[in-house]
Amino acid sequence: PSRKLTKLKQFNKMESMAKVKNFLNAKRSKGPASILAIGTANPPTCFNQSDYPDFYFRVTDCEHKTELKDKFKRICDRSAVKKRYLHVTEEVLKENPSMRSYNAPSLDARQALLIEQVPKLGKEAAAKAIKEWGQPLSKITHLVFSAMAGVDIPGADLRLMNLLGLEPSVKRLMIYSQGCFIGGAAIRCAKDFAENNAGARVLVVFSDIMNMYFHEPQEAHLDILVGHAVFGDGAAAVIVGADPEVSIERPLFHVVSSTQMSVPDTNKFIRAHVKEMGMELYLSKDVPATVGKNIEKLLVDAVSPFGISDWNSLFYSVHPGGRAILDQVELNLGLGKEKLRASRHVLSEYGNMGGSSVYFILDEIRKKSMQEAKPTTGDGLEWGVLFAIGPGLTVETVILLSVPIDSAC
Ligand SMILES: CC(C)(COP(=O)(O)OP(=O)(O)OC[C@H]1O[C@@H](n2cnc3c(N)ncnc32)[C@H](O)[C@@H]1OP(=O)(O)O)[C@@H](O)C(=O)NCCC(=O)NCCS
Repeated sequence: PSRKLTKLKQFNKMESMAKVKNFLNAKRSKGPASILAIGTANPPTCFNQSDYPDFYFRVTDCEHKTELKDKFKRICDRSAVKKRYLHVTEEVLKENPSMRSYNAPSLDARQALLIEQVPKLGKEAAAKAIKEWGQPLSKITHLVFSAMAGVDIPGADLRLMNLLGLEPSVKRLMIYSQGCFIGGAAIRCAKDFAENNAGARVLVVFSDIMNMYFHEPQEAHLDILVGHAVFGDGAAAVIVGADPEVSIERPLFHVVSSTQMSVPDTNKFIRAHVKEMGMELYLSKDVPATVGKNIEKLLVDAVSPFGISDWNSLFYSVHPGGRAILDQVELNLGLGKEKLRASRHVLSEYGNMGGSSVYFILDEIRKKSMQEAKPTTGDGLEWGVLFAIGPGLTVETVILLSVPIDSAC
């Protein structure tokens, strides 16, 4: 009788497993996931790069450090950044003087600003993406929210949900403190959510306000100067879903595949440590060359299933971490000068805005493609690649397929 019982249990187990498999198969969409809308936002205050050295050394009472200021000017001149939108204005510094002095405890002041402003900026970008998508809020099933800073419980995701008026049943995922490669990692999660849950519509939001990195200039810590020359504040939102309802939804790009790779022995190259003074940033001078050395192998691995070998046949969204990073990608892939036009444009007009940067670039690519009456959203080309690059050193490689322009918005 005991053998009979065991057999019966095994049989029941198999039957249950078959039910689970049927349940999961019925839930899967046909795919692939697509980006259905893009929205972007920045804080209101714009700084011209040419004026920034004077502003920065004046508000930190460091005008006497003339050699350091000259060095900062050189970095700004070499940055290829023309403008940036920053939340840290003179007024913010007057209200929070502890942020102006190196090493002064200022975490509370910075956190208070971030907890309020990060979801607000994210909401602005999300509202634009939702408007473009044109569907009721109730159709959003998942929310993925990424913020470099402003850790809090409950998090910025819940605040954003309330600001937007999303349904309480929305499945939320809050991602803090990952660095700029999150631009690729978050879309990878959204793709999996959309492809494994038929009908899912995932709102992905990146909101990065870099106030943790504002510090008085220091001779002994030059990485601070690089951060001050390239970082900008920005938010981007995308709606991701599979099997779009073609009568009411218009895909902009299909998200074909996504891979992540961390380059061995480079975990010290980009570091940011949370301290009472805010975040202390370390940037190795080797970052651009190391990205350059690894980029072609990553591209080969990512596109090999699709038989692509001509890198100039692709459109590109490359994280504009710094001008030298874009130069290295261009050089090592043997790209024509126009290939990184959109990435350089975003670096020039906004700086490095963390995770959201690669979506500013995709937004620029599809808008320009439409303005210039190109046949597809991807600069007239079919296949594209998004490289999101950040600490680790980590590179996320996302392969995209563009959409014919008459079917896109
Ligand atoms: C910062 C940057 C724009 C400077 O441009 P560049 O072509 O390298 O210009 P230079 O080599 O003339 O460097 C300018 C100055 O910056 C200094 N510098 C460059 N990178 C630096 C770093 N990581 N830390 C400290 N100083 C740095 C150089 O020593 C040089 O100083 P000098 O004028 O006194 O000689 C460029 O190096 C860059 O884009 N770097 C990538 C930034 C990065 O790591 N971003 C990742 C964040 S996610």
